[in-house]
Amino acid sequence: MNTATFADLSPQRLHALLTQSPKAELHVHIEGTLEPELIFALAQRNGVTLPYADVEALRRAYAFTDLQSFLDLYYAGCDVLRTEQDFFDLAWAYFERAARDHVVRAEPFFDPQSHTARGIGFEVFMPAFIHAAQRAQDELGLSVGWILSVLRHLPEDDALHTLDAAMPWMDHLIGLGLDSSERGNPPEKFARVFARAGQLGLHRVAHAGEEGPPEYVRSALDVLGAQRIDHGVRASEDAELMQRLAREQTPLTVCPLSNVRLCVVPDLAQHNLPQLLAAGLKVTVNSDDPAYFGGYVNDNLTQLFAVQPALGAPQAYALLRNSLEASFAADADKALWLAQLDAQWQGAGRAA
Ligand code: HPA
Ligand code: ZN
Repeated sequence: MNTATFADLSPQRLHALLTQSPKAELHVHIEGTLEPELIFALAQRNGVTLPYADVEALRRAYAFTDLQSFLDLYYAGCDVLRTEQDFFDLAWAYFERAARDHVVRAEPFFDPQSHTARGIGFEVFMPAFIHAAQRAQDELGLSVGWILSVLRHLPEDDALHTLDAAMPWMDHLIGLGLDSSERGNPPEKFARVFARAGQLGLHRVAHAGEEGPPEYVRSALDVLGAQRIDHGVRASEDAELMQRLAREQTPLTVCPLSNVRLCVVPDLAQHNLPQLLAAGLKVTVNSDDPAYFGGYVNDNLTQLFAVQPALGAPQAYALLRNSLEASFAADADKALWLAQLDAQWQGAGRAA
């Protein structure tokens, strides 16, 4: 597609295209979609007492200073998730919300260890996730692929046991991810579990270069065999790494509102996404933990475009296209969504 023809699209047309085009969400933690209202509803359903008077008080606590200050609240929030119905309600709420943003493919992470550590096993959450994904496909036309993510602040043996426990559910998983506290927990700590995932035919992705240094991006690629880098924004500190990411077209799943809320960048206007895109990297926009960071995928796109003069129609088209191309969906599905994307943009070009 010749994106030069879109240079003079009005801001209103561009906003409509950003929000209504088909897109994939490749970096979202299902536990991070747990809205305060649902936390309170599940707490009541399960007889859990929360240390907050009401939804507003909980929301006020979402003032984070770094990744760890967020993770402390995020893991605490998980405690209200107890039954299969709870996990279904969580996933279904996200799928309904994502479909409204014209997400046609979602590849959410889930953190088994934050549940198994509380005595809640795969037999509780996996049927819920499978059922919700099936219903999303049937009722919303939303394709879903689940990514099991292991917690990097825990020992690798714990991650290996988690992968073992997932064996009966392997047909319903598309990949292995790595999340939680990055600093001091380099990717190489998880070499064995990622090698095992590769043997099992799982895709491999890893959070790297969010708070951690560019070296963590390199070791995620070289030691873990990561096919996508989650965040990766600190790659811009390393010119050689930037060239490699551009050359190899390794997708980065960037989460602008998350980066602001966790103080990875000072504000949206200073986010380096335009720089990453201009350097030829395969950048995508995602929501990470939307219930905690103030927005879903369309909010991330529209808020970023509103304050970044370097972002216009060609960049919007590239980000949307990248999201679909970088997904682990079947090639035939991707071709269909890409054709739908192009049809929407061609129509817009003529109308402009
Ligand atoms: N980084 C690391 N771990 C996480 C995140 C994140 O952005 N969200 C949920 N777990
Ligand atoms: Zn994340």
